[in-house]
Amino acid sequence: MICLYDVEKVRQDFPILDRKVNGKKLIYLDNAASSQKPKQVINVLTKYYEETNANVHRGIHTLSQEATELYEDAHVKVGKFLGAEHPFEEIIFLRNSTEAINLVMYGWAMHSLKKGDEVLSTVMEHHSNIVPWQFLKEKGVVVKFADVNRDGTLDMVDLNKKITNRTKLVTCVHVSNVTGTINSVKEIGKIAHEHGALFLVDASQSVQHMQVDVKKINCDFLVITGHKMLAPTGTGALYGKKELLEKMHPFLGGGDMIREVTLEKSKWNELPYKFEAGTPDIGGGIAFGAAIDYLNKLGLKNIRKHEKELTKYAFEKMSGLKGIRFYGPLDIEKRGGIVTFNLEGTHPHDVGTILDSEFGVAIRTGHHCAQPLTERMGENATCRASFFVYNTKEEIDVLVTGLKKVLEVFGK
Ligand code: ALA
Repeated sequence: MICLYDVEKVRQDFPILDRKVNGKKLIYLDNAASSQKPKQVINVLTKYYEETNANVHRGIHTLSQEATELYEDAHVKVGKFLGAEHPFEEIIFLRNSTEAINLVMYGWAMHSLKKGDEVLSTVMEHHSNIVPWQFLKEKGVVVKFADVNRDGTLDMVDLNKKITNRTKLVTCVHVSNVTGTINSVKEIGKIAHEHGALFLVDASQSVQHMQVDVKKINCDFLVITGHKMLAPTGTGALYGKKELLEKMHPFLGGGDMIREVTLEKSKWNELPYKFEAGTPDIGGGIAFGAAIDYLNKLGLKNIRKHEKELTKYAFEKMSGLKGIRFYGPLDIEKRGGIVTFNLEGTHPHDVGTILDSEFGVAIRTGHHCAQPLTERMGENATCRASFFVYNTKEEIDVLVTGLKKVLEVFGK
């Protein structure tokens, strides 16, 4: 039998999975917060510091040239991974999705929008796709949020009601970090463009779990976070259509982002340097490229299939637990590998603590940096198990055993 996806082999690439937590084998189910890193990524980072370390773009010496080439290649890897028309110029390396959204807000919206213009986001967003747009209120820009349905999907009727010919930007998450809901970004982008608005997609929870192509979506901007996709923390990227990035104002001023400086004025460098002021995280960026290689090697279709199987299995096993409530659509075709739940009569923080201390299981509890959505679901906090390439059904079995113990402790 040909095994397309050998999870045991994948696990061997992740050194951290060998460690013990509170005397138990680590079971890491907090991938929506941050993923673990394979040795192929760690080795590239180490090799860079051991053999190549130098600043980029500034030197004519060999190390600087090598570092520049590796760092620029990493941009191209990310660009091709996202299907960008211009895989180098359209990819800005930044610290994370938050920084990427702020770049669009400061570099485009702060300069281009005026009183009465509108930005339409959604109730389903991470704080990073809510708070930056609120900064625009001081300019008189109106910020609106499309609502969610009871099943955790986006309320398209409300979105269509709230968009107007004054809407200049529509933005939404591709996959919710709370409910796992997959939004129909192609359709939402079409609605945005029909109203003359730009469209920004927060793909922090999608590109590492399913195939995403910026040309197919036809988004104007898309943001990703490296540390959730096997790369080091402090890495991430903004994809933007070249013609838009060219027109935009730089976000941060300083070295590398300029072509010429006089004491009176400066001229901006070409893309992507225009938006990468100062010495970037060179080693991290190169390792980000290695993470892309690793994801490509596993294959996004295989990853999605694996995570769908885990999610289906988790629902089957967890449904039998007394007083369990799930959030988000139950149809696994409509959600990513995220299972968010509460156990009646228990507090999520107690659930998380017992799972960690007695079973070595790491989940996230709380509002998951999405307070408006959590409140809209009628909760203050929830428990979230999120899966990735190295998780197994056996780990879900331990999660379920742990949850049974929680119920027992609370006399349920
Ligand atoms: N956005 C991250 C999460 O959902 C931090 O946990």
